[in-house]
Amino acid sequence: MQPVWKSFFILFYSKSDNYIWNRPVEEWTDKRANKEYEYIEKETGRRYKKVPIHAPGVRNGETGKSWRGMNPPPGKHWQFAPQTLDEMDARGEIYWSATGNPRRKIYLDSSSGIPVQDIWLEFRDAHNQNIEITGYPTEKNRDLLSRIIRASSNPDDLVMDCFAGSGTTLSVASEFGRKWIGIDNSSEAIATTLRRFAKGCERMGAFVSQRTSPHENTSNDESRQLSLFNLDECRFKAESLPEKSEIVNNFALYATDSFAGELEDIVKQWIEWQ
Ligand SMILES: C[S@@+](CC[C@H](N)C(=O)[O-])C[C@H]1O[C@@H](n2cnc3c(N)ncnc32)[C@H](O)[C@@H]1O
Repeated sequence: MQPVWKSFFILFYSKSDNYIWNRPVEEWTDKRANKEYEYIEKETGRRYKKVPIHAPGVRNGETGKSWRGMNPPPGKHWQFAPQTLDEMDARGEIYWSATGNPRRKIYLDSSSGIPVQDIWLEFRDAHNQNIEITGYPTEKNRDLLSRIIRASSNPDDLVMDCFAGSGTTLSVASEFGRKWIGIDNSSEAIATTLRRFAKGCERMGAFVSQRTSPHENTSNDESRQLSLFNLDECRFKAESLPEKSEIVNNFALYATDSFAGELEDIVKQWIEWQ
């Protein structure tokens, strides 16, 4: 069966110019690193690539002057002033070809990773990828949330999800040392989130409607909603997720008066789950 691709846009808004954007990067794989940084420095064993030391555009200042008897190529300028180029050369950061052509060495170990592109194809819907924790129908892919939260906040910052659902955002925010506020008007969502907080990544089972068997003596053929927390009934789709512990237990819970009774039962359950 062909996989079903759904795409959506992630919008980044800021109230002012003072915002956080930690450009997301992917870790280098050996294969990609060896391809991009193909040279190894004999003296140090450091892997590097060579890039030009000039850039387009004529400059009249320092970067337009000659360096070691060479002028920048026509229509170009040096990327650094001659004095800086001297310092770089002294540190061994300039590669000289056999014909005397200088190039700059860029080292793999100074790269924080591969900057990710605008189109993110690696994240699938948590259900399709069989990586859901809670089984909540709209549960999000935690790795996607992890990228978004780390790109747009720093530790101790405050992350808010006002449609918290199964608590993916809150759990990931907590894991990465962010403070968080979660809001949801569904008791199922609050119960799901609290169970997730208590149990970490332990799978909760599928939150699905299960059709009763046609042979069962039922008055109608309506779908029967499985209880989220009746684990005997839940059908686990996989044995376990990768080992990850995301227990969250440092939080306060607030509710309107009308919701308080329902919430009390959920909290009692949460105490048992601890
Ligand atoms: C798309 S789901 C959120 C999914 C969530 N990010 C997750 O990982 O599971 C939307 C949530 O918004 C909640 N919701 C809808 N209307 C709401 C409202 N007016 N106030 C608070 N929560 C609301 C629903 O109960 C539902 O859990």
